This record gives sequence, structure tokens and C-alpha cells, in this order.
Amino acid sequence: MTAGFITLEGGEGVGKSTQLRRLANTLERHGRRCVVTREPGGSPGAEEIRALLVNGEPGRWDALTETLLLFAARADHVARTIKPALAQGEFVVCDRFADSTYAYQGVGRDMPRETIRRIESIVLGDFKPDLTFVLDLPAETGLARAHARSVAESRFERFGLEFHERLRQAFLDIARRAPERCVVIDAAMREEDVAAEIWRVVAERLQLQVSN
Ligand SMILES: Nc1ncnc2c1ncn2[C@@H]1O[C@H](COP(=O)(O)OP(=O)(O)O)[C@@H](O)[C@H]1O
Ligand SMILES: [Mg+2]
Repeated sequence: MTAGFITLEGGEGVGKSTQLRRLANTLERHGRRCVVTREPGGSPGAEEIRALLVNGEPGRWDALTETLLLFAARADHVARTIKPALAQGEFVVCDRFADSTYAYQGVGRDMPRETIRRIESIVLGDFKPDLTFVLDLPAETGLARAHARSVAESRFERFGLEFHERLRQAFLDIARRAPERCVVIDAAMREEDVAAEIWRVVAERLQLQVSN
């Protein structure tokens, strides 16, 4: 792998944003150009759609509409940000991607996996991340971290512990279904240790010397 599309997934407060910054810095220290992006959003159009999704009550949109809005944003993000960067030989590291739709809209909105898969297939074809890190943490720890972080970043943070534990299982299930793409990381470790573990996997794929 000379460049690639790397995604970070997992529930609230598992450390996605923290690790994204660290991974981007480490890649750049190793001379790799790197685009840091996030979902929903990541392109001007997709950020406009994000505003429709993140503002207001969780039940603002019917489940199918919400799923279609997420994929509409994703289509624009892939076309305008991700694919052009990859074509330039840059890395793209992304905070959440399609796996989050399977987990959140599956668990939170009862969207059947097969329905999401069919929409994904129309929107993305066979485009998918080269590598996905699923940051895994007991829901309680993740929520405590998310609450300690001053601003609520997700309307799902208000949901109960049981919801977040089901979400955790959904992400683990996604990783089990796609072992060639997904690596589960124990996110309960210290920040530096999580970063080292992520870099070890990336460096191995890049066939770099693990020098941190
Ligand atoms: N390994 C870690 N151990 C303890 N706290 C952490 C760790 N990683 C991140 N944090 C802290 O937990 C909070 C949530 O991290 P963040 O990266 O925002 O998570 P996410 O983007 O997955 O919601 C932040 O305040 C962050 O500084
Ligand atoms: Mg975050």
C-alpha cells in the first residue's frame, strides 16, 4: 500500500478524533501527504447535508430518509474529496464512514442491514476503505469520556447505556464480517499506546520500519 483510504470507527468517546490527528501527524512525519476528513460531511455539499442531520431531535427524519441523507452526503464526499485525494497519491484518513451507518441506523433506527447494503452498493459500488480501525471500548467508559469532553458532538450521546453497548456489539460484528479490512483496537489503553498500535498496523501495511 503506497497510499490509501483509512477510516476510524466506533462509538462515542472511543478516541476517533484523537487518533485521527495522531495518525495524520505520524503519516506526515513519514513523508506521506494526508487529507483528514470526517463524516457526515467532508466536502462543502456534504457539510450542508450534515447540518440537516445533526441539528434537531434524533427523530427529525424518518429512518429511510436519514439513511439516504447520509449516503447522499457520502456520495458527494467520496466524489469531491476522497477520490480526488487518492488519485493524487495522498492518504485519506476519515473519522467515520459507511460502517457507522450500519451501526447507528441499524441499532438506533432499525434499518435492516440488507437495505443499507443495497443503498451502499448503488452509491459506492465496490469502493470501500483500504483499512478500518474499530476502536473498542465498554460503552460506559466511552460515554464518560464523551461527557468529560465539554461539547456534546453527537445527538446520540443522550441515548442510554444499553443503546451504546448494542452499538459497540454492532461495530464488533462489522469487524468480524470483514476481517481483511477491519482491525479491532482496544481503545481502553493509554492514548499513546492506542496510537502506537494503530501505527504498527499501518506501518506493516506500508511495509515501513516501525519507528514511531
Ligand atoms: N486513550 C484514551 N484514554 C483516555 N482518554 C482519552 C483517550 N483517547 C481520547 N481520550 C479523551 O476522551 C475524549 C473523547 O475522545 P475523542 O477523540 O473526542 O473521541 P471520539 O472522537 O471517538 O468521540 C477526549 O476528551 C479525549 O481527550
Ligand atoms: Mg470525534
